[in-house]
Amino acid sequence: MAAPDPAAEDLRRLLGARGDGLLRELERDAQARGLAVMGPSAAGFVASLARVRGGRDLLELGTATGYSSVWLGRVARELGGKVTTVERDAALVQEARANLLKAGLDGVVQVVHGDAFAFLEEPGDRFDLVLLDIVESEYAAALKPVGERLKPRGVLVANHAGSPRAREFNSLALSDERFDVSLLYGFWPGHAPEWDTLTVAVRRESPAGARAGPLG
Ligand SMILES: C[S@@+](CC[C@H](N)C(=O)[O-])C[C@H]1O[C@@H](n2cnc3c(N)ncnc32)[C@H](O)[C@@H]1O
Repeated sequence: MAAPDPAAEDLRRLLGARGDGLLRELERDAQARGLAVMGPSAAGFVASLARVRGGRDLLELGTATGYSSVWLGRVARELGGKVTTVERDAALVQEARANLLKAGLDGVVQVVHGDAFAFLEEPGDRFDLVLLDIVESEYAAALKPVGERLKPRGVLVANHAGSPRAREFNSLALSDERFDVSLLYGFWPGHAPEWDTLTVAVRRESPAGARAGPLG
């Protein structure tokens, strides 16, 4: 095994120090149970994107215990927005609701118990930002319906998009003229570097060559 790189270890400590007691508790709990919550650097970055976008209508697909929902919820609360987060596991829904209550975000974050694809099919709001964090092999199928629920200049962030299971998604996103797409490689503390890519797709005002629709 390679010797630890002191610079990488230092960066890990620095990045790992983001967030407060509740977030640390949720990180430790997730690590102990093998739940793949985002980690402070990736979640903090997505929360910053939400802030840039105005933080009003935010959607998360894949809640787990509500860790990244807390990051998004804090931005939404500050900016007068709201977060909808969808989770299909009933026990995790209960846990996430309890954690969001603890964070004082129960009035800001709505945890929907159900399937992400069923949620996307329902008519409803369009979003400023969608965080896609379900099973990576389902990302490709989510691209079209998520794109339809994004406002112009809305942002789609796909977590763990460096996974080979997200290859089809990345390939489709990169060739989808509705989006400007960037793959951001990172080495977030506590996560495997080869999986930590975020794919960030910003919905264009209109696809190349098409007329702009009304702004959402
Ligand atoms: C990686 S975890 C989410 C982590 C969370 N976003 C965080 O960072 O705190 C993925 C979650 O998505 C849920 N999930 C997977 N497929 C889903 C689907 N089709 N609809 C709703 N939830 C789904 C799983 O039950 C799991 O809790």
